[in-house]
Amino acid sequence: MGAMEVIIQSDLRQASLLGARIIARHVQGKPDAVLGFATGKTPLLLYQFLVQMHREQGLDFGRITAFNLDEYIGLDPSHPASFHSYMWKNLFGHIAIPDERVNIPNGMAPDIPAACREFEETIKSSGGIDIQILGIGRDGHIGFNEPSSSLTSRTRIKTLTAETRKDHGEDFGGEENVPLHVITMGLGTIMESRTCLLLALGKAKARPIAQTIEGPITAMVPASILQLHQRAIVLLDEEAASELKKTDYYRWVYDHKPNWQKY
Ligand code: GLP
Repeated sequence: MGAMEVIIQSDLRQASLLGARIIARHVQGKPDAVLGFATGKTPLLLYQFLVQMHREQGLDFGRITAFNLDEYIGLDPSHPASFHSYMWKNLFGHIAIPDERVNIPNGMAPDIPAACREFEETIKSSGGIDIQILGIGRDGHIGFNEPSSSLTSRTRIKTLTAETRKDHGEDFGGEENVPLHVITMGLGTIMESRTCLLLALGKAKARPIAQTIEGPITAMVPASILQLHQRAIVLLDEEAASELKKTDYYRWVYDHKPNWQKY
């Protein structure tokens, strides 16, 4: 099977809810699932839905293994803008997941290449990622794989672009305080996840989404590599879908999914 499935929902709430349902269904069927998480504003509501499902329906995350895409280098995990803080604040702290089941790249490691290798090893020894949640940067990056990233890259150090540092300035009280370097899963790493769930919301994502889905596969739009993924689900609100050409077709396909394929 090779497929990119484009799903357009009426708004960010519906898109986030469907994303949460896809994750929840997977965890129900496989309580020891390996899940890959992303940070940023985009998945916040999806995470709120997961917390709600945990609280109200007893969705159990106690046996999952979690991996995160990326982390800033040189930032203490306790820093409020670290992705460690983000994940515990917005998700892990509310779903009773044991500490030792959480794997976030260690931006404070004294030997960064060794930490990257170890991270890859841990993914492998856990059996590989079942579902990787992704957001997308305005320049088409996933994780922190900025344009020109090797399409087969592994977990490694990357240098952020000026645009990405600007986009994260708010978290650091000014873009000049945003770290220059990060550790990120590579595009090759992400491509090995059994399913990728790319969520994009709002007008600012319309262009990179159109390039990702309908443009050429190119390192200049790192997310476009997902066209080669065995199972990539791209979950959009109307705004993020607004620059796509074949929206009628994507809607038609979704509305006529055979029952056994429905979420
Ligand atoms: C960062 C993260 C990405 C995220 C992107 C978009 O670069 N490393 O994983 O997808 O920001 O963030 P937002 O969802 O806030 O637009």
